[in-house]
Amino acid sequence: MSAVSPRTSGVVAASSAAGEAALLEVRDLVVEFATPRGTVRALDGISIELERGRTLGLVGESGSGKSVTALSILRLLDGNARIVRGSVRVDGEDVAAMPDDRLRELRGGRVAMIFQEPSTSLNPVFTVGFQVAEAIRLHRGVSKREAWAQAVDMLRLVEIPDAERRAKSYPHELSGGMKQRVMIAIALSCGPELLVADEPTTALDVTIQAQVLALLRDLKQRLGMSMLLITHDLGVVANEADEVAIFYAGRVVEKAPTRELFARPAHPYTAALLASLPRLRERAARLVAIPGVVPDLRRLPSGCRFRDRCAFAQARCATEDPALRPARDGSGLVACHFPLAGTEAGVNA
Ligand SMILES: Nc1ncnc2c1ncn2[C@@H]1O[C@H](COP(=O)(O)OP(=O)(O)OP(=O)(O)O)[C@@H](O)[C@H]1O
Ligand SMILES: [Mg+2]
Repeated sequence: MSAVSPRTSGVVAASSAAGEAALLEVRDLVVEFATPRGTVRALDGISIELERGRTLGLVGESGSGKSVTALSILRLLDGNARIVRGSVRVDGEDVAAMPDDRLRELRGGRVAMIFQEPSTSLNPVFTVGFQVAEAIRLHRGVSKREAWAQAVDMLRLVEIPDAERRAKSYPHELSGGMKQRVMIAIALSCGPELLVADEPTTALDVTIQAQVLALLRDLKQRLGMSMLLITHDLGVVANEADEVAIFYAGRVVEKAPTRELFARPAHPYTAALLASLPRLRERAARLVAIPGVVPDLRRLPSGCRFRDRCAFAQARCATEDPALRPARDGSGLVACHFPLAGTEAGVNA
């Protein structure tokens, strides 16, 4: 097998295709927060890249740095945050260096975001049609009447039944799934190149979850967007993402094309996450919990930060912090001294 097969292009070729800017490129990003109990390093050298038209899944437990990564892309980090080093580029343009007008274009135009809780993002005192129309007016500068017509079209686009009538509903009159569709309509009203979806279906029932994910997949294709899909649930990215980056305690510990990651997880943490997925055919099967807890970011263990919970840890894991390096004959990267599926060097192959 060649070192770079076509299927791995998203991960490996992104770094080798010099000169051609990825739509999103986060490089070696280190973000710290000042807190009363000391400095928290939430991101410790995060690198991800996303090609046009593709979906990248960011997966990890609570507190691993997924949302901080998303907020960094739009420079929306809290006031106590400090970017220690690294860069975020959208279309090759450094977000940190953007003047205010460029930043406004980025936030309201080229990159859109949707969050977990649609209820908190919608204003309870206005109809949903009005709220979509306002977003349209802001971005497209059309008349109120035209904006309303386009808002109804957008509600149709996100498959809200009887859109004309529903446009006149207030948020509390809609179900969670319908509200999330409204949020998607608002996000799409600016015609984004990149949609950042941070746990977009976590608050929804499983069946509704699947419908919203299917809608996002369809819209992504029809509108030619790229998507950053953030979730703590590896099951969610299985059918949606082209590639997956596994986050653990502020680091990416594994990055691979989705199919490869599911077929041959290289990092013991990825394998544990996979093992904890309920199998479709064994619905009765219990969730397998990963023993131990995520380490406190202020008191990380020496060496590998996953070693306390790792069934394969050896002496070296306590002394040497593993760097990301090629895994599985080059399809993907893993930060582990003893990866499961073998590395380029053929360890454990
Ligand atoms: N404003 C802040 N001040 C201090 N610490 C923060 C702040 N925002 C985030 N953090 C810390 O940064 C780390 C990463 O948080 P982040 O929100 O990115 O996690 P996450 O992976 O999105 O988790 P979840 O699945 O719960 O959404 C956490 O330890 C969190 O406590
Ligand atoms: Mg989060």
